[in-house]
Amino acid sequence: GALLLRHRRAYLAGFALSLDSIGLSLANPWVLRLAVDGIRAGASPLRLAELALAYVGVAVAGGAVRFLWRLRLLGAARTIEYELRNDYFAHLQRLPVGFFQRARTGDLMARATNDLTAVGRLVGVGVMYGFHTVVMFAAAGVFMVAIDAPLALMVLAVLPLVSVVFLVLGRRVHHHSEQVQAQFSTLSALAQENFSGIRVVKAFAQEQAQLETFAAAGREYVVRALRLARTSGAVWPAMTLILGLAAALVLWQGGAAVVAGRITLGQMVQFFGYLMMLSWPMIALGWVANIAQQGLASMRRIDEILGLRPAIATPPAARVPPDRRGAIEFRGVTFAYDGRAPVLRDVSLTIPAGATVAIVGPTGAGKSTLVSLIPRLWDVTAGAVLVDGLDVRAWDLHALRRQIGFVPQEPFLFSDTLEENLAFGLDGAAGPETPRTDSARVRQAAAIAGLAGEIAGFPHGYATPVGERGVTLSGGQKQRAALARALARDPAILVLDDAFSSVDTATEEQILRELRAFAAGRTTVIVSHRISTIRHADLIVVLDRGAIVEQGTHEHLLARGGLYADLYQRQLLRDALEAEDGAAGGDGAAGENGAAGKEGAVGVHLPEEELAGVAYDGRLLRRLLRYVRPYRGAVAVAVVLLLLTSAAGLAGPYLVRVAIDAHIAPGRLAGLGWIVAAYVGALVAGFALRYAQTYVMAQVGQRAMHDLRTELFAHLQRLSVGFYTRQPVGRLVTRVTNDIDALNDLITQGVVGVFGDLVTLVGIVAIMLYLGWRLALATLAVLPLIVAATLHFRVRAREAYRQVRLRLARINAFLNEHLMGMGVVQLFGREAQEQARFDALNRA
Ligand SMILES: Nc1ncnc2c1ncn2[C@@H]1O[C@H](COP(=O)(O)OP(=O)(O)OP(=O)(O)O)[C@@H](O)[C@H]1O
Ligand SMILES: [Mg+2]
Repeated sequence: GALLLRHRRAYLAGFALSLDSIGLSLANPWVLRLAVDGIRAGASPLRLAELALAYVGVAVAGGAVRFLWRLRLLGAARTIEYELRNDYFAHLQRLPVGFFQRARTGDLMARATNDLTAVGRLVGVGVMYGFHTVVMFAAAGVFMVAIDAPLALMVLAVLPLVSVVFLVLGRRVHHHSEQVQAQFSTLSALAQENFSGIRVVKAFAQEQAQLETFAAAGREYVVRALRLARTSGAVWPAMTLILGLAAALVLWQGGAAVVAGRITLGQMVQFFGYLMMLSWPMIALGWVANIAQQGLASMRRIDEILGLRPAIATPPAARVPPDRRGAIEFRGVTFAYDGRAPVLRDVSLTIPAGATVAIVGPTGAGKSTLVSLIPRLWDVTAGAVLVDGLDVRAWDLHALRRQIGFVPQEPFLFSDTLEENLAFGLDGAAGPETPRTDSARVRQAAAIAGLAGEIAGFPHGYATPVGERGVTLSGGQKQRAALARALARDPAILVLDDAFSSVDTATEEQILRELRAFAAGRTTVIVSHRISTIRHADLIVVLDRGAIVEQGTHEHLLARGGLYADLYQRQLLRDALEAEDGAAGGDGAAGENGAAGKEGAVGVHLPEEELAGVAYDGRLLRRLLRYVRPYRGAVAVAVVLLLLTSAAGLAGPYLVRVAIDAHIAPGRLAGLGWIVAAYVGALVAGFALRYAQTYVMAQVGQRAMHDLRTELFAHLQRLSVGFYTRQPVGRLVTRVTNDIDALNDLITQGVVGVFGDLVTLVGIVAIMLYLGWRLALATLAVLPLIVAATLHFRVRAREAYRQVRLRLARINAFLNEHLMGMGVVQLFGREAQEQARFDALNRA
């Protein structure tokens, strides 16, 4: 609503142009009438030439105005869509991590793409055609009534039937297409899961089973798509039929009126003109009703998100303590995740500024939960967390998080270069060019994190891309990258949540040595499972089932002989066993790390990549035809049906000619009824034939695409894991889903459509030649122009379409990654920069 208002100027301009265009389109039938009546009255050739010129002039002017009109309104609509999408992402960035845990990523992405497109359609074409149609109907109605009231009323009573039928069928189409969409999401989700989890699939040799699941989902998709085709295939033939019936009515009753001398033949032609002119708006009206319905539903879904109040945000009277040194206090903290049983109970703990505190305890004790309260990833259920003496809920959120360098338990990296990932939390870091000072800090942080040596060995050093979620790095490298990213921020508080779990003990000890100098003067909170890591901490806190059970120094806790001493003993035992294993097998704790590490970072392209590229856009048509071949019988049937449809279509105008020449012009009414009856017969036959043909083709297209999709999926599954590290999963998913669908459109509409157009064209030319070769040749002279223009625009449109889809795919990939890594974005205060990146994608 507000968005519409903001763009009201564009809309008003659009409406004004719309009125112009309607005025111009109404003028054409008028010119036609003058011409026909002029011919019958024996007008001079000069007069006819004048009228022809006027006709052309009006047509050209109408086209130009229509073009401007669309440009204006569609431009406004696109801007609205763009702004809405930006707002949507901005709002998502403000929502707490808890939200992303509850919401489904796919669903949030669908809202940003499908739903936003639906809204864009509503505010664009929806508004545009809605207004246009209503005005046009009224204006043409007035003209028709002026010519002949009884005839006009008859026709105007039939015409709304078009809208009604379209609306009714459209509803059913919408229902079925939702079913198709749902199955489409299932397919996407399956593909997504498979490609992101390809390591697991391969490790467990589940390729065949996964393929079966995918193929089964694909078959269900075909069933639903065909159900949709049965309804949607009826829409256009039905429209043609009803409009044809209206034309038959004009021919019959209008013919009678001409014979009776109530109207002239020219006026009847004019009447026909209005009828044709109204046919599209009448269809558009039904269509607009559907667009409106879908657009509003989508808007509601987007509003659902936009209407959520960020539960964790900077309060109105936010403060920043003057003395920011990093003191932390938990004061009687109780915390439960979304109404579940509390996982922290009445925890009180004071960490003086500059101290190093370790938190240990069994798995599931609540350690990660506890530290995540410091940067306000979650808010306490009861009690309070204070940083520098101020409740974190009273802090300016951005300033609070700016103080903290956080290394999460699950390191999440973005699919950028190492440099960009390490500089992620730096204030100036936006885009590929990192300022020199930042670059120095990044290198220093990498050195402390023990990563500098390995980076030097990467093919592109700091410019090496890390792949989605850092897949080209080993587990230990990822953890150290996450550590370096936190260190580079130069934080007052450093939080390490089990940051060394994938690093071997020797490396860990070395990092800790380096870290000690860095940590001097900073508050450090270390969560660890390895006691060796934390024995030197100023304070060790033992957490068990959400409560602090012990605290003190290493020596103090050992002397107590409690849970800590117990954990320590067990760990000593395990270390001893591992050391033995290592001596015997020569391949101990580093095993997990080494295996993943060997892959290293890759920048080279393997031939496989090309292979998949070919499957996608290589010698496309030939490949496509291979998939259609098994269904050639059905294709043959469709072609025959197509020929018959064309024949039926061509019979109509021929019958009109006979009616005018043999009956209406000479004033012979007898027999006109039979001609009209034949005309109706041709219409009905055309309807049935076209419907059958569409359905057969849909069947072929769906089946062939199912084969292709399944094969592509199987092929992708056979590719090595290395391939997946270089390909964003989002793009692969798009290929097995969206792109396949686009191919289907190409087959069912493109190939057959072009063929059908050709057949009709040849038929029309033949009939025109038969009617009079001179006139036909004159008319045909314009044809190359039309063909050239059409081809030109088709090519341009295809390119534009490709661009749009590419852009959507990029937006999708970006969203996918950022929805998963939103916690990191928020922890590092990167919202503004990520918004700018999203904006750039969205604007493109
Ligand atoms: N996002 C979440 N939503 C709901 N429950 C959660 C969530 N994260 C953790 N929990 C639950 O809270 C409890 C504490 O989890 P937490 O991750 O804090 O343990 P931890 O001490 O860090 O364990 P670990 O040593 O395995 O990392 C667990 O019972 C866990 O199941
Ligand atoms: Mg944990």
